[in-house]
Amino acid sequence: GGRRAWGARGRCRLQAHFGCSDVLGGPALAVLLVSWAALGPCGLEGAEPGAPGKAESPQCPAVCTCGHEDYSDELSVFCSSRNLTRLPDGIPDGARALWLDGNNFSSIPAAAFQNLSGLGFLNLQGSGLASLEPRALLGLHNLHHLHLERNQLRGLAAHTFLHTPGLASLGLSNNLLGRVDEGLFRGLSGLWDLNLGWNSLAVLPDAAFQGLAGLRELVLAGNKLAYLQPALFCGLGELRELDLSRNALRSVKANVFVKLPKLQKLYLDHNLVAAVAPGAFLGLRALRWLDLSHNRLGGLLEDTFPGLLGLHVLRLSHNAIAGLRPRTFRDLHFLEELRLDHNRIRQLPGQAFEGLGQLEVLTLNDNQIQEIEAGAFLGLLSVAVVNLSGNCLRALPEQAFRGLGQLHSLHLERSCLGRIRPHAFAGLSGLRRLFLRDNGIVAVEDQGLQGLAELLELDLTANRLAHLPGQLFQGLGKLEYLLLAGNRLAALSADALRPLRRVFWLDVSHNRLEALPEDVLAPLGQLRYLNLRNNSLRTFVPRAPGLERLWLEGNPWDCGCPLRALRALALQQPDVVPRFVRAAPDGDDGQPPTYAYNNITCTGPAAVAGLDLRDVAEAHFAHC
Ligand SMILES: *[C@@H]1O[C@H](CO)[C@@H](O)[C@H](O)[C@H]1NC(C)=O
Ligand SMILES: *[C@@H]1O[C@H](CO)[C@@H](O)[C@H](O)[C@H]1NC(C)=O
Ligand SMILES: *[C@@H]1O[C@H](CO)[C@@H](O)[C@H](O)[C@H]1NC(C)=O
Ligand SMILES: *[C@@H]1O[C@H](CO)[C@@H](O)[C@H](O)[C@H]1NC(C)=O
Ligand SMILES: *[C@@H]1O[C@H](CO)[C@@H](O)[C@H](O)[C@H]1NC(C)=O
Ligand SMILES: *[C@@H]1O[C@H](CO)[C@@H](O)[C@H](O)[C@H]1NC(C)=O
Repeated sequence: GGRRAWGARGRCRLQAHFGCSDVLGGPALAVLLVSWAALGPCGLEGAEPGAPGKAESPQCPAVCTCGHEDYSDELSVFCSSRNLTRLPDGIPDGARALWLDGNNFSSIPAAAFQNLSGLGFLNLQGSGLASLEPRALLGLHNLHHLHLERNQLRGLAAHTFLHTPGLASLGLSNNLLGRVDEGLFRGLSGLWDLNLGWNSLAVLPDAAFQGLAGLRELVLAGNKLAYLQPALFCGLGELRELDLSRNALRSVKANVFVKLPKLQKLYLDHNLVAAVAPGAFLGLRALRWLDLSHNRLGGLLEDTFPGLLGLHVLRLSHNAIAGLRPRTFRDLHFLEELRLDHNRIRQLPGQAFEGLGQLEVLTLNDNQIQEIEAGAFLGLLSVAVVNLSGNCLRALPEQAFRGLGQLHSLHLERSCLGRIRPHAFAGLSGLRRLFLRDNGIVAVEDQGLQGLAELLELDLTANRLAHLPGQLFQGLGKLEYLLLAGNRLAALSADALRPLRRVFWLDVSHNRLEALPEDVLAPLGQLRYLNLRNNSLRTFVPRAPGLERLWLEGNPWDCGCPLRALRALALQQPDVVPRFVRAAPDGDDGQPPTYAYNNITCTGPAAVAGLDLRDVAEAHFAHC
C-alpha cells in the first residue's frame, strides 16, 4: 500500500448503503444522515447493504458503499474490489475520497472524474490499468493523494498531472514504467512524496524531477537504473529521503548528491556499486542514514565519508571490502551504528575506528579477520555491541578489547578460538553477555574469564570442554545464564560452580554427564531452570525447592529406589517436569516456540524398562 495512505479506511467506518432505495432522497436522506451522525461513526457498523439492482439513488452508485470518514463530515465512496470493468456512474459530486482499487478497468477515459472537483483522495491501486488517457485526471484540482500502484502502466503522457496541481503524494510503484518523460511532474510543486519504485526504469532524463521543489521523499527502488547523471537531483532542495536501493548502479559518482542539503536518508543498498568516488557524499550535511550494503565495494577510501558530521547509521554489510584503512571514519563523530559484516576484511589495524566515540553497535561478523591488533578498538568509548562472529581468529591477544568499558554484548561465535587465554577479556568491565558458541574450545585457561564481574550470560554451547577447572567461574558472581550444552563434560564439580550464586538458568544438555551428585548443584541457590537432556545420567535426586523447569529426556534412567524422589516430583509438580516441554528459553528472538518430549524413560530394571518413570507403579518402590 501507499507509504502514507491518507484517509485509510477507518476501523469503524459507516457501512450504510446509500443506493438501497428510491424512497430515500432529498429531505428523507438528510434526516437519516442527521440520525447517523447522532449514532456516531460506529453506530451502523455492519449494516446490511441494500439489494443491488433497485432504482439507483443519485447519491451513491449501487455497486459502491458511501459513508463518512471517522469523526469527519467528509464523504467517502468505497468501490474497492467489486470486479468493475468500468467506472461506476453517479459518484456523488461532493465526494472527498474515492476508493476504486482492486477492480479491472484497463484504462481510465478522458474527463472521467471531471465533476469531482472536491476529490482529495483517489485510490486506483491494482485496478488493471494499462493506460491513462492524457486527460483522465481533468478537473481534479484539489486532488492531494493519488494511488496508481500495482497496475500495468508502461508510460504516462506528458501532461497527465497538469490537471492535478495540488498533489501531495503520488504512488506509481509496481507498474511497468520504462521511461519518465521530461516534464511529467512539472508543476507539482506541492508534491511531498513520489514513489516510482518497482518499475522498469533504466534511465531518467536530466530534468525528470524538475520543479519538484517541495519533494520530501523520492523512491526509485527496484528499477534498473545503472547510472545517475549529476543534474538529476538538482532542485530537490527539500528532499529528506531518497531510495535508490535494488537497482543496477555500478558506481557512486561525485556531485550527484551535492545539492541535497536536507537529505537525511539515502538508500543505495542492493546495487552493483564497486566504487564510490572521493567526496561522493560531500554536501549531505543533514545525512543521518546511509545504506550501501549488498554491493560490490572492494575498499573504502580515506576520503569516502568526509564531512558527514550528522551521520548516525552507516551500513556497509555484504560487500567485498578487503581491508580498513586507519581513519576512514574519522569525521563520523555521531555515528551510532556501523555495519561491516559479511565482507572480506582480513585484519583490523590500529586506529581503524578512530573518531567513533559515539558508536554503539559495530558488526564485523562473517569476515576473514584472523588477527586483531592490540588497540584495534581504541576510541570506541560508547560501543555497546560488537559482533565478531564467523571470523577465524584462532587466538585473542591479551588486551584485544582494551578500552571497551561500555561494551555490553560481545559476539564471538564460530571464531576458531580453540582456547581462551588468560586475560583475554581484560578491560570489558561492563560486559553483560559473552557469546562463545561453536569455537572448538578445549580449554579456558586460568584467569581466562577474569575481569567480567558484570557478566549475566555466558554461552559456551557447542565446544569441546571436557572438564571445568575449579577456578573457571571465579569472579562471575552476577552470572544468571550459563549455557554449556553440547560439550564433552563427564562431570560437574561443586568447586567450579561455587561462585555462581545467582545462576538461575543452567543448560548442560548434550554432554556426557554420568552422575550429578546432590552436593554439586548445592551452590546454585537461585537455580530455576535446569536442562539435563541427552546425557548419560542414571539417577538424579532433585533438590526441589525453587526449581521451575527440569529437562530430563535422553538419559538412560535406572528406575530404582534413588529415582523415587524424582518420580514424586514429576507427579506432584507436573509443571516442573512436564511430559511435553518448550525446547528453547522463553522469548527467544521472536521465533515460534518449539516443543519436545520430556520423557523419563527407564532403561532398567528389566521389570520397568521402556516405561516412563511417571508411569511406573508406586508398588515398584514399596521396598525402598
Ligand atoms: C469477482 O470475481 C471473482 C471471480 O471472477 C469472484 O470469485 C468474486 O466473488 C467476485 N467478487 C465480487 C465482489 O463480485
Ligand atoms: C478483466 O476484464 C477483462 C475483460 O474486460 C477480462 O478478459 C479479464 O480476465 C479480467 N481480468 C481479471 C483479473 O478479472
Ligand atoms: C458531469 O456533470 C454533467 C452535468 O451535470 C453531466 O452531463 C456529465 O455527464 C457529468 N460527467 C461525468 C463524467 O459524470
Ligand atoms: C552476530 O553475528 C551472528 C553470526 O552472523 C548472528 O547470528 C547474530 O545475529 C549477530 N548478532 C548481532 C547482534 O548482530
Ligand atoms: C545426543 O547427542 C548426540 C551428540 O550431540 C547425538 O548424536 C544424539 O543423537 C543425541 N541423542 C538424543 C537422544 O538426542
Ligand atoms: C515420549 O513419549 C511419548 C508418549 O508419551 C512417545 O510418543 C514418544 O515417542 C516418546 N519419545 C521418545 C523420544 O522416546
